[in-house]
Amino acid sequence: MSSQTHQSTDPRHIGIIMDGNGRWAKKRGYSRPKGHQEGAKTTRKIIDACRELGVRYLTLYAFSAENWSRPDMEVKALMELLEFFLGRETKALIKNRVRLHAIGRIEELPEQARKALNKAMEATAHFDEWHLTLALNYGSRQEMLDAAKGFAKSVACGETDAEQAGWDDLARHFYTKELPDPDLIIRTSGETRISNFLLMQSAYAEFYFTDVLWPDFDKVELEKAIACYHRRERRYGKTGEQIARPTTVSPLQPSA
Ligand code: IPE
Ligand code: IPE
Ligand code: MG
Repeated sequence: MSSQTHQSTDPRHIGIIMDGNGRWAKKRGYSRPKGHQEGAKTTRKIIDACRELGVRYLTLYAFSAENWSRPDMEVKALMELLEFFLGRETKALIKNRVRLHAIGRIEELPEQARKALNKAMEATAHFDEWHLTLALNYGSRQEMLDAAKGFAKSVACGETDAEQAGWDDLARHFYTKELPDPDLIIRTSGETRISNFLLMQSAYAEFYFTDVLWPDFDKVELEKAIACYHRRERRYGKTGEQIARPTTVSPLQPSA
């Protein structure tokens, strides 16, 4: 993660909180795992849609550090679905030249899911055009804690000077160190909270909330989110006038 700003009119990096699988299933009298299966179908379609729309980085919140508190049966179903999804999708990722990344405490995932994930990441590690990141057993506070520990170690061994250190010296210990900051964060299902997702990285992201449940989300809904993003003015602390007409000479410094 870098502290650099990105001012292009197209979102380079979209993060999605894929929410609403359980409610989608409940409305139809299905079990919650059936909702997650339908959600996985949407995930596949949105990965393709992002490529078609030129979005180079897509980060999907698939399992939070807090989701372990769900019923054992649901957690088990989600982990099996992850393994199944990776087994099926790796070929498509390779064909489409998509590099897979993972953020979160991956080492705590069940062995089978972890193996499938590592296999898919290795098989796509040489690609650089499209980047798909799965947030698994992810939580921003856990990430911050792990980064603080990494930073403390690098100070202790003399690699980093704590007094001189800047933001980038801390950010290189985040799970997201290889990714640009997200430009747009989408959350489906009508909830308007961030639920421990990319807190630090979304400092200047635009947010888009929709009532559509994740299994019903599609390319048309994604295009609506991107159209809404295009209408936003990203000011990064400046005034609207500065953004509309950037000047190189500060009015406080008389030109010669
Ligand atoms: C999101 O859907 C998927 C995960 C959190 C794994 P939910 O399962 O949270 O769906 P709702 O919020 O209960 O509808
Ligand atoms: C956030 O959704 C996590 C994922 C989408 C993976 P939750 O459904 O777990 O969030 P809360 O508990 O409603 O905030
Ligand atoms: Mg939910």
